[in-house]
Amino acid sequence: MFHHASHSYSVDVMTEPLPPLVICLGNVVADHVFRVDDVPQPPAKAQARGYKLSIGGMAANAAIAVQRLGGRGAFWGRIGDDPNGALLAEGLRAEGIDLTGLHAVPGARSPVSAVLVDRYGERAIMGFRGENLGIDPAWLPLHMLAGARALLCDPRWPEGAAVALEAAERLDLPTVLDGERSETRLLIDLVPRVRYAIFSAPGLNNFAPGQKPAEALRRAVADGLTRMAAVTRGEDSTLWLLRGETRPREMKAFRIEPRDTTGAGDVFHGAFALGMAEGMDVEAALRLGSAAGALRARDAATAHRSETEAFIAEQTGGAVGR
Ligand SMILES: Nc1ncnc2c1ncn2[C@@H]1O[C@H](COP(=O)(O)OP(=O)(O)OP(=O)(O)O)[C@@H](O)[C@H]1O
Ligand SMILES: [Mg+2]
Repeated sequence: MFHHASHSYSVDVMTEPLPPLVICLGNVVADHVFRVDDVPQPPAKAQARGYKLSIGGMAANAAIAVQRLGGRGAFWGRIGDDPNGALLAEGLRAEGIDLTGLHAVPGARSPVSAVLVDRYGERAIMGFRGENLGIDPAWLPLHMLAGARALLCDPRWPEGAAVALEAAERLDLPTVLDGERSETRLLIDLVPRVRYAIFSAPGLNNFAPGQKPAEALRRAVADGLTRMAAVTRGEDSTLWLLRGETRPREMKAFRIEPRDTTGAGDVFHGAFALGMAEGMDVEAALRLGSAAGALRARDAATAHRSETEAFIAEQTGGAVGR
């Protein structure tokens, strides 16, 4: 394990290895979040109690998690050359994310969403996937993979994911899919291209409609490169199945008082990918993911490494093999 973040810079700064680079490919969204009393039915005009612009999108949130947890995060994906795109680029840059693979497509419009959060914390989300973003991955800086330790993809840009995953596999890198809700045929195509496929509950149901989770996970590890498939189930637990085993193992979620669970899954995936990049075994990386996801749900913000490690130690009483 690496512990760079806690080091202060000293004379040996030149010999200190850089934190591992994790490339996160896929979606970034400008989330315009309004805090409201009630989500109104039209026709209506109401005043919001609060407003903020936040960065959404699975791969973008994962890259932020990597960076905060002490790795180096890079984001690969497309935005428009519009005001939302500029805000997104600025937000990612402020987090320290490598933006070599952020492509502002001329004439395109960025993904954007309006999020209404009512006084119970329930959300109504209206998303716009963007326009004219193009699908051609020819511009991707694939050469960067040679300096990376892991690649994470979400399903929102399958053409880009396919190219990057193939190049990553040639370099023997750990590859991770955020199996979030998506078209069935798309997930069926992507899953065998990754070593670690981690679904959300709705995503797993999209992958294998109508199947029980254990059966769907067995199907996910049945062919291709997939050596582990898992499904995150919020406050409940994560089921994970290694290729060659027949019954999934279960990792209980950490117990917290949730404030806002948005993005918990994204952060889980970023933390897992960082764990693999650091050379952890699957179970330890899943535990890091669970802890980072739980803290995100508890605090509505992505935690840093020291806080996450302290949380794990406190919650497991130091008995990490549990
Ligand atoms: N209420 C909670 N209590 C504890 N842990 C949680 C809670 N919600 C989320 N988590 C952690 O975050 C992980 C991902 O959450 P979840 O399964 O809800 O992902 P998701 O459906 O992909 O959500 P998202 O829309 O945020 O991507 C869980 O496996 C768990 O480790
Ligand atoms: Mg998710």
